[in-house]
Order: sequence, then structure tokens, then C-alpha cells
Amino acid sequence: MLTPRPMGDIMIELQDVRKVYPRPHEDDVVALDGITLAIPSGEIHGIVGESGAGKSTLIRCLTALEKPTSGRILVDGKDLAMLSPSQLRAARRTIGMVFQGANLLDSRTAAGNIAYPLRLAKTDKEEARRRVAEMLRLVGLADRARSFPSQLSGGQRQRVGIARAMADSPSVLLCDEPTSALDTETTDQILRLLKSVRDTYGVTVLIITHEMGVVRKICDSVTLLDHGHIVATGSVADVVSDVTSPLARQIIPAPALDTEDTGGRAIIDVAFTARPGQPVGSRIIALAAELGADINAGTFETVDQVQVARLALTVPQESVSDVITQLTEAGTVAEVRA
Ligand SMILES: Nc1ncnc2c1ncn2[C@@H]1O[C@H](COP(=O)(O)OP(=O)(O)O)[C@@H](O)[C@H]1O
Ligand SMILES: [Mg+2]
Repeated sequence: MLTPRPMGDIMIELQDVRKVYPRPHEDDVVALDGITLAIPSGEIHGIVGESGAGKSTLIRCLTALEKPTSGRILVDGKDLAMLSPSQLRAARRTIGMVFQGANLLDSRTAAGNIAYPLRLAKTDKEEARRRVAEMLRLVGLADRARSFPSQLSGGQRQRVGIARAMADSPSVLLCDEPTSALDTETTDQILRLLKSVRDTYGVTVLIITHEMGVVRKICDSVTLLDHGHIVATGSVADVVSDVTSPLARQIIPAPALDTEDTGGRAIIDVAFTARPGQPVGSRIIALAAELGADINAGTFETVDQVQVARLALTVPQESVSDVITQLTEAGTVAEVRA
């Protein structure tokens, strides 16, 4: 049986990590530039950022496939740079990897794929068989043990990928765009699975993603990278509560207008947060109506006990400043849409 580990200790720690790729005849590429980050055990942490931000480099450094140019990386308290080759192999066994397209071996069955890391680790045969069966049950594929990847759907293949990554009882699961190749419904199933794997085993999960829905749905904390720098980091609840921050606007964007034709009225974006049981929404909506504003569109998202509301109001041009003043006094962020 895999046993859950105590939650809360720091599982992944990066201290001032810098990674420079030298290029002949050109400027060096600074892929990571002073990254300091601590991820507690049992947390699901999202890393987001545009292409080229340094996300994959960060994952490669965590698996020790790459060495940082400077700075320290500790996984479960161990400095990866200080390990002997055999210690490093042992440390790598505590890290499971989940890839975008699952990356299964086509010539092996689901069970064979899950058994693969156990064979590499020379796990006792009987123990390995037991573990494979447990992992197949974990991901809901107990009846597909003998299926080959070509006989499985994309979502099922990714389930096998997760089972394989968990087979050797890792402390950390690194997921590089685990749902990017999947449709929305399958994505949600895989996200629920990752969450239940974390809940069952207490594994620390790092997810690289460009999908903000992944952050909204399962991440406890999130880091936004840009050109090798951390732009924002924190618990998802804190990040989305800062409604005007760029990352909050990405995680929960202002709603698209239901009708583009506003009849010459100005558009005002309003954002506010509420905790459970606080009837802020109805109060603000009533106030908006009182001020002569129409609600054109709205989104309400609840993330970790924080409800974030974003409304698009239309108001007559002449009352814009009055509406903004009153909505601001009521504790919202209100601004004319650019
Ligand atoms: N092996 C490499 N050699 C040179 N430059 C690289 C290498 N790997 C990544 N880079 C550069 O480092 C930067 C970060 O890349 P990467 O970590 O792949 O970003 P992301 O995964 O966020 O798209 C980019 O400018 C990329 O071109
Ligand atoms: Mg990448």
C-alpha cells in the first residue's frame, strides 16, 4: 500500500535558480532568472506563462535532466546537485512524470506500461503485479489491463500515463500540459483524477499548463512565469482575490459582452469578491440597477471559498463617473472598458 505523507512540509524548493543557455554568435538565453519558490507537500501547484517563459526548463531542472547555472533545487529536502549518481537515480524514482500525450509505449499493454518503471527499478515481481493492479484500479481501468494504447481513448491513455507515473510511489508528480491534447469533458475527468490521486496519496503535484481552467479547477497555488521571471505567485484564492492583477484577470477574465450593440452607452467592468454566505452579489446588482446600469454580461466563479464576480455594465455616457464612484464606494473595482 502506498501511504499518504504528512502534508505541509516543503516538498519542492527553488532558491534563486538561474538557467542560461549559451549560444554561439548570439546573446545567451536566460531561460530562468532568479526563481525562488517553495511548494508544500501535498499541494497542487500550477505553473503558467506564455510559450518561452521557462516552464519546460523548470521541469527539466526539477528532474535533474538539466543543471541550473546557479542556485539550488531541493526535492524532499535533498539538493539535487549534491547527489551521487546512485542517489540521483533514487531521487528520480521519487518523481513521477505525466506528459501531454501520455507518451505510452505502443507495443505494451496498459498493464505493461504501468509495470515498466517498476521493472526498471527491479521491483519484486509479485510486488510489481500487486502495484500494477492497484494503479489500474486507482485510475478506473481495471478492466483494460490487456488493452494496447491504440485500443484506448486519449483520456484512457492519459489515465494509464498517470498510473505509470504513480506506480513507483513518487512524492512528486510533474505534469507537463497533461490535458492540452484532450477535449473539455475528458480534461475535467483527468483533473478530477489528479485531484483524487493527490487526496489519496498526498503526492505533491506540479502542473505546467497554458489552460487557466486547470488553475481554476484544481490548483491550490499558482505561479506566473514571464521571460524566466516570477510575475506573480501565491495561493489561487489570494491571487484571484486581487481582482485587478494580471494573473487574476487571466484566471477569471471579464465576460465577453452578450450584445456588442450597447446603443451608445459606456461599458463599465465591475469586479468584486465575496466569501461564502456574504450576499455581496445581490447588493451590488441592486445598486447597479438603482444607478440606471444594465447588466450586459457576468461571470461568477468560486475558487477555494472565494467567489469572484465580474460584471459588464452599460450606462449612459453622462453617468459614467457617478456610477464608478458609487460602485467603488460599495467596495468593488469599477472601470471603463478600454
Ligand atoms: N536547450 C536549449 N538551448 C537553448 N535555448 C533553449 C533551450 N531550451 C529552451 N531554450 C530557450 O529558453 C527559453 C525558455 O524555454 P522553455 O523552458 O521551453 O519555455 P516554455 O516551456 O515556457 O515554453 C526560450 O527562450 C527557449 O528558446
Ligand atoms: Mg514548454
